[in-house]
Amino acid sequence: MELTDRIGRVHRSLHISVMDKCDLRCTYCMPEDATFLRREKLMTRAEIATIAGIFVERYGVNKLRVTGGEPLLRPDVVEVIRDLSALPVKLGLTTNALTLHKHIDALWEAGLRSVNISLDTLNSERFRSIARREGLDTVWANIRLALLRGLRVKVNMVVMRGVNDDEVLRFVELTREHPVHVRFIEFMPFAGNKWGRERVFTFAEMLGHIGSVHSYEKLTDDPNSTAKSYRVPGWPGTFAVISTVTEPFCGSCDRLRLTAEGRMRNCLFARAETDLLTPLRAGADIIPLIEANVLAKHPMLGGLPPFRPESQEEVLHDLSIRPMVSIGG
Ligand code: 5AD
Ligand code: SF4
Repeated sequence: MELTDRIGRVHRSLHISVMDKCDLRCTYCMPEDATFLRREKLMTRAEIATIAGIFVERYGVNKLRVTGGEPLLRPDVVEVIRDLSALPVKLGLTTNALTLHKHIDALWEAGLRSVNISLDTLNSERFRSIARREGLDTVWANIRLALLRGLRVKVNMVVMRGVNDDEVLRFVELTREHPVHVRFIEFMPFAGNKWGRERVFTFAEMLGHIGSVHSYEKLTDDPNSTAKSYRVPGWPGTFAVISTVTEPFCGSCDRLRLTAEGRMRNCLFARAETDLLTPLRAGADIIPLIEANVLAKHPMLGGLPPFRPESQEEVLHDLSIRPMVSIGG
């Protein structure tokens, strides 16, 4: 059986947040005063495996991404990865890489082959102001380490006008120097992240900027990919743009999400959530809950109006949603 929604999209990808805390506090991802869950509210390792197992074995989900907050802050993250990599899926981990060096051998041994690392700047001072703490040297060293160990490495850069848009070309250069897959992400609105449409450095601007210096070619994307990917011919890495704000790709979206406390979300911008963990703990059947959640998925942007420049106030009003740190990227 497949998880098909009202407009016929089949859902094959599940992002699982395993920890809502983070050891960075990126401005675009969490408000200054974010609070975190108590430990007993988080899904246990066994509960994560049970829920993921249902999605994979019953519904044919074939991509799992372990996210946070910061998943590496979870003491049993290696075991979680080991459980999930035993399933017939493509498995990824999204991390800020601050402590990746401590876990990398164990993660590899547990079956992990692909990481998405968040990095928005190569300037230390800027890193400190975006992430609200030090860490650039460690993150960069860990990107090198992950490449050296043979992991597939995607680098996620959230591009914000007036903050780091002047580094887009520098990040494209990384694909000349290293076999990395850089993903430029349009700045998205979440609770408490001071989003404004004018702060979005757009997909069109990024490509215009890159194209004024490099001739690049389009690569073929997977049918459900959120990223449009490119490369400069002959360079070992690739780059891609995730244009959620100016050109949403909801029509082919196949993603579902599970928060660290076991609540299912059918869209990043969803306002409704379905608690799966409480019923699971009570011994109830969560199958009907999962199916109802998918059926309730809005065709676009969780039902928000498109992010046109004039719709800003309306969007911000609606974004009493969660901050990204507690949704899971
Ligand atoms: N806009 C775009 N991407 C975001 N992420 C977090 N918050 C935002 C936002 N406001 C993405 C980052 C990070 C991942 C965990 O989530 O790319 O790498
Ligand atoms: Fe999918 Fe929602 Fe993102 Fe659109 S906004 S691509 S529906 S998660």
